[in-house]
Amino acid sequence: MTTTEETTAVADPRAKAFAAAYPVRPIPTEQPINTDPISSPLSPDAAEELAKYNPIWERIVPESRTRGNDIHLPISLRFAQRLCDAYPEADRDLVMISVILHDTGWAHVDESRILSEGFGDNWRKAAIRYEHEEQGCKVARRVLAELDYSEEFIEKVCQIIDGHDTRPVAYSLEDALMRDADRLWRFDHAGIALAASWFSQDPAWYTDRLTVEIVPELLTQAGFEMGTADLARSKELLQTGILR
Ligand SMILES: [Fe+2]
Ligand SMILES: [Fe+2]
Repeated sequence: MTTTEETTAVADPRAKAFAAAYPVRPIPTEQPINTDPISSPLSPDAAEELAKYNPIWERIVPESRTRGNDIHLPISLRFAQRLCDAYPEADRDLVMISVILHDTGWAHVDESRILSEGFGDNWRKAAIRYEHEEQGCKVARRVLAELDYSEEFIEKVCQIIDGHDTRPVAYSLEDALMRDADRLWRFDHAGIALAASWFSQDPAWYTDRLTVEIVPELLTQAGFEMGTADLARSKELLQTGILR
């Protein structure tokens, strides 16, 4: 994204309205925040909610095989569920479904360019990033239409998927929660293992990067607390103080 595009995104009426509605960042919450390890057992209600999305998962098995999506997407969904608990005013179905589908487009771009362009110095502005967002919208339209979601709802999902990596600002609370869920999986040790290997780096390098780059990008108080709790646990678990 060029500077002009960034300025345009920030000046977009949706960005302005969202910034005005939520002037305090990270966005505070009065609700309890669950910072337990993300693999902790689910409550019966939470398990029942997750099962609702099985028909979507069943339709994106091929897309789950690319770029670690079969690790990233389920873990991010669990974070999304907790984030929605912390911000009950959000449309949780919109957040949850956007999280499941947001990176499915990686399966429909040239895989050899994912690592060469998508993780280079200018990764946020790489053409392949825009392509995976466009392709992700196509997958979302196909899958959600098959499952009889309304056209209006499908459009909302696509508005969140479109620009989720390349647009510098969120346009809604649901968009912000999806963005935090998209980042939080990396703080779990599974995310650290996978992401460190993408960059051909060790876990200590990656946890340093999380601290410096990703923690400041978290948009919600719940996301910040979950991320920092997980980061502390993962650093201790992986002995990143010594193994560096
Ligand atoms: Fe993405
Ligand atoms: Fe993602």
